[in-house]
Amino acid sequence: MRMIDIIEKKRDNKKLSQKEIEFFVKGVADGSIPDYQTSALLMAICLNGMDDEETLYLTQAMAASGDQIDLSPIPGIKVDKHSTGGVGDKTTLILGPIVAACGVPVAKMSGRGLGHTGGTIDKLESIPGFKSGLSREEFINSVKEIGIAVAGQTENLVPADKKLYALRDVTGTVRSIPLIAASIMSKKLASGADAIVLDVKVGSGAFMKTVDEARRLARAMVDIGKGAGRKTVAIITDMDKPLGKAIGNALEVREAIEVLAGRGPEDITEICLTLAGKMLELAGKGDFDTCKSLALQAIGDRSALGKLKEMIKNQGGIPDVVHDFSLLPKAVHTKEYLSPDTGYLASMTSDVLGVASMLLGAGRANKESSIDHAAGIVLLKKPGDRVEKNEPLMILHANQSSFFDAAIRQIEGAVEISQDKPKMPPLILDIIE
Ligand code: URA
Repeated sequence: MRMIDIIEKKRDNKKLSQKEIEFFVKGVADGSIPDYQTSALLMAICLNGMDDEETLYLTQAMAASGDQIDLSPIPGIKVDKHSTGGVGDKTTLILGPIVAACGVPVAKMSGRGLGHTGGTIDKLESIPGFKSGLSREEFINSVKEIGIAVAGQTENLVPADKKLYALRDVTGTVRSIPLIAASIMSKKLASGADAIVLDVKVGSGAFMKTVDEARRLARAMVDIGKGAGRKTVAIITDMDKPLGKAIGNALEVREAIEVLAGRGPEDITEICLTLAGKMLELAGKGDFDTCKSLALQAIGDRSALGKLKEMIKNQGGIPDVVHDFSLLPKAVHTKEYLSPDTGYLASMTSDVLGVASMLLGAGRANKESSIDHAAGIVLLKKPGDRVEKNEPLMILHANQSSFFDAAIRQIEGAVEISQDKPKMPPLILDIIE
């Protein structure tokens, strides 16, 4: 088989066979296909697409390119969750403990943040002592013993995706539905869960800018899940504004604890109850309404908060952070950002706030940069709220006061005040089963 023939076939908009796709993925993973040929095929896929069958073969070949986690030693139905990335998205920190408290095992592998989007592992590592680098044995045993573990992805999880993603990033081929779907779902398949709940974000802070595009991505991923024998559901949620009020690692851990204690912001609480309800439903705990009530009950009776405490202790962190926020890192400097006008807060674009938070020290400019766990932003107002001129809209947190100016310049472009009350889209836009 020759790579040039595969490229020409896709260039001419023909369907690739399973064997051709496997040849390509294997060659990417073992380095036998040069980057220029890989890039050429990626562009041909980007322009001409792939049908459901090709996308499934691509996903399965990618999943098989490295470690495949076997969760079968853990009894019960294991349900994974994935969010397509966002700003202020701390849902895993909340959902994991809720679902585990309801008796469904949570064996979750998560990533670190890059650029303006955060990562669950960075957030958890803001808890002093917390260890995310678990061996496979430690990971499985933790889930067996206490029902939950959240660990960093192993180095060798879907190596084909690491290579393809790095090339897509520099060849203008990130925004392709089959490539995004295969990239995300290959990691989910390799992570070993029996069922998958996907949170597909739409809006300024997300990959998908329109609900239509998000629906197509959701459908492609649900079809891959089905084709691979894993029950999969996708929920399409709004990401035009940040989720909750906190952006930045320790600030988000604090907000996640507030949600589990029943006093968190309404938007993130609602999304988490919906996602948890779907996860519990896939795990066979009843119909969706029953499962959503179970999730709400786990917040009300504090069992989910207790589960988070148990998980932190089990992974070496200080469990008392759940009652005492002074144990979390705290920035030396804070600065209020004031409303430029009186009216309604019409927009507060989340990608710009994500970049501002990164400039305060909360994110990584590249894979090697270190992050400041204490830095970030706490919103005091959200889109739709009435505001007065010079009223604080948010508080910026940084350990170096020199970081404030660049962050403020970003935020100035993100905040819009209108005289008419803006119409807010619903938080949950669609559910694709
Ligand atoms: N997230 C991924 O893991 N892959 C993509 O291609 C896009 C978002």
